Amino acid sequence: MHFELSEEQRMIRQAARDFAQQELKPGVIERDEHQKFPAEQVKQLGELGFLGMMVDPKYNGSGLDAISYVLVMEELSKIDASASVVVSVNNSLVCYGLEAFGSEAQKEKYLKPLAAGEQIGAFCLSEPEAGSDATSQRTTAEDKGDYYLLNGTKNWITNGSTASTYIVIAQTNPELRHKGINAFIVEKGTPGFTVGPKENKLGIRGSDTHSLMFNDVRVPKENRIGEDGFGFRFAMKTLEGGRIGIAAQALGIAAGAYELAVRYAKERKAFGKPISEHQAIAFKLADMATQIEAARMLVYKAAWLKDQGLPYTEAGSMAKLFASKVAMDVTVEAVQVHGGYGFVKEYHVERLMRDAKITQIYEGTSEIQKLVISREVLK
Ligand code: CAA
Ligand code: FAD
Repeated sequence: MHFELSEEQRMIRQAARDFAQQELKPGVIERDEHQKFPAEQVKQLGELGFLGMMVDPKYNGSGLDAISYVLVMEELSKIDASASVVVSVNNSLVCYGLEAFGSEAQKEKYLKPLAAGEQIGAFCLSEPEAGSDATSQRTTAEDKGDYYLLNGTKNWITNGSTASTYIVIAQTNPELRHKGINAFIVEKGTPGFTVGPKENKLGIRGSDTHSLMFNDVRVPKENRIGEDGFGFRFAMKTLEGGRIGIAAQALGIAAGAYELAVRYAKERKAFGKPISEHQAIAFKLADMATQIEAARMLVYKAAWLKDQGLPYTEAGSMAKLFASKVAMDVTVEAVQVHGGYGFVKEYHVERLMRDAKITQIYEGTSEIQKLVISREVLK
């Protein structure tokens, strides 16, 4: 077993760490407060090659491995999970889905600008009545010969207003249930496609989350991804990798809060000594460090399996389930270590605590990860 990162992986991690400190940290409190999308920072992330990290260079990607991707997700998420979710969705849901399952023409037209970071994408599976129960798609895609007619509503879509390319999952043949579902590429500005208001959220407030409405939207047949009826499998295969990215996001949120807690515990004095010298605080830090390291091992292992071409469904779900719990536990403790200062925005930990919660909900709730894991272990 090798636990060392390669020279290249260490350099990429350092680049992400520097970017997070220099470009994401200034303004992160204000963006959270005003729900401001990190538009300038996302543009820079594209220029750094972080929006198409694992895509083949022939489609404008960086051609890196999944380990490098989780390292970048971890570092960005230590500071700004609203920015890192853009990286996650664009890389693991949109670019991966197109590269793995799209046609050559779709890759030329849509993947190339997405991987280059010139555009960003959105992945649209959830609906008002179909979240965890994703096979119950109500959005319909009627086959009209050389085009499909899309009708319905998607909910909670990340990059909802800022994306240019939307991957939309819809039901073509309800009698076939999940086997009648398709995935489509829909361009922003297509007549009948409208974006609802931005959601006012507990966490990742800079991320733009919207409902999307489709009213007789014509989608050319060549924009269907894969063969007829492949859409549900497409969504599941894509989410398998997405869950590794969100696990890395959770790990980063936890690690970011922990680093702040360690620094604060060494500086803050109470009863004549730094609070880190009170065993109750020192032991909290020990527990946090241990939980984070365990989460890191699960996240890296899942990414490593993906890089080896080995199955990673179970490992990805385990990593997400565990790391998101660690993110919740560690951020709550980080606020506690900061005392009253932890409760105000300037100290960053309260935001990380609010951001942590989403990692237990999106890309499959913790209950759904347990369902996936239990089905794997009982196979
Ligand atoms: N790979 C390939 N195929 C898969 C699969 C996988 N990982 N998982 C399931 N399938 C196939 C099954 O084999 C089955 O097909 P067959 O009948 O042909 O064998 C079909 O899909 C249906 O599977 P199930 O019977 O297991 O379906 P289910 O109704 O029990 O649901 C589920 C399975 C795992 C709960 C699924 O619905 C699910 O993952 N739900 C959560 C949805 C989710 O994660 N949403 C995230 C939205 S994106 C997002 O959130 C982005 C963001 O925030 C940033
Ligand atoms: P429900 O499915 O209604 O679940 C409610 C509760 O019941 C949960 O605790 C759940 O775990 C539990 N539950 C449901 N079924 C079971 C079961 N079988 N066994 C045990 N417990 C169960 N979706 C996208 O498609 N694209 C996006 O970009 C996207 N971004 C998002 C961003 C944000 C900020 C948020 C909040 C959500 C986003 N989502 C996105 C949607 C997200 O994936 C769903 O919210 C999530 O899958 C849960 O679905 P739901 O909200 O309908 O909850």
